[in-house]
Amino acid sequence: MTIKDTIRKFTKDLKFVTHIPAKEVEMLMLYLLEKNTIWLHINNNKEFEKQKELEKLVKKRASNYPIEYLINKASFYGETFIVKEGVLIPRPETELLIDNALEIIKNKEGTINVLEIGTGSGIISVMLALLIKDIKIIAVDINEKAISLAKENAIKHGVEHKIEFRLSNLYENINETNIDLTISNPPYIANDYKLPDNVKFEPSNALFGGNVGDELLKNIIDQTSDRNIEYLLCEMGYDQKKPLTTYLEKFDTKIFTFYQDYEKFDRGFTIQFKK
Ligand SMILES: C[S@@+](CC[C@H](N)C(=O)[O-])C[C@H]1O[C@@H](n2cnc3c(N)ncnc32)[C@H](O)[C@@H]1O
Repeated sequence: MTIKDTIRKFTKDLKFVTHIPAKEVEMLMLYLLEKNTIWLHINNNKEFEKQKELEKLVKKRASNYPIEYLINKASFYGETFIVKEGVLIPRPETELLIDNALEIIKNKEGTINVLEIGTGSGIISVMLALLIKDIKIIAVDINEKAISLAKENAIKHGVEHKIEFRLSNLYENINETNIDLTISNPPYIANDYKLPDNVKFEPSNALFGGNVGDELLKNIIDQTSDRNIEYLLCEMGYDQKKPLTTYLEKFDTKIFTFYQDYEKFDRGFTIQFKK
């Protein structure tokens, strides 16, 4: 069967799990063939010789298994990152955290020392290291798989000399006293929240933040303040602005602002503590 006919044949199997079924079949084919989209389109009358392998991948995708885990990559902030099962897949809204960090860092002189809590695939630390010349980052996670994947991504993007990856439960293994800014996209979903089918394949310790959901966020706020770190930037759940506003009243902050994501949901905050 030709490439063109194969795309047509498998597209119908994916139409209930994605709004871009043909595109996803193409992505799976490109992954199997190790070719690019242009090659696929120029050669679409050629025989496609990996029918069995493709059928297996399409079947798995049809069960809602994420395409990113099948092709082992995802885009973030215009770059391509390696992704693997067992580590959270990057989300587009997390790009806003990078924008907010850039806003602060662009006004700083000299080397900026950053801590990332819950680095996952390393997207935040790697992007900051790519975008900011004078930066030193410590990136922590409790998940060994995440630390090893994040290292791979740092090496892929040539920024491994700017980031130290470390296993740590929040600040537990952090003794440094020179951190200027902490950034985090921590787990913030309530433990009893019913996840959509596609998200069920992602690690629960990357998603659930406690009985209410904001426990880890509050813990990060407490410890960042205790350690006298000036800035804290976090992603959060769409319904956490109100409880976090109340929570933040007990802290000595210079500025705290919330931001919304592309769909106009409250999605995170920037805090500047008084030093
Ligand atoms: C929502 S994911 C974010 C991953 C990545 N930064 C991103 O934005 O795609 C949260 C990450 O925090 C890690 N994590 C969960 N609890 C943690 C803790 N107590 N200390 C450090 N990292 C933690 C998880 O393993 C996961 O990789």
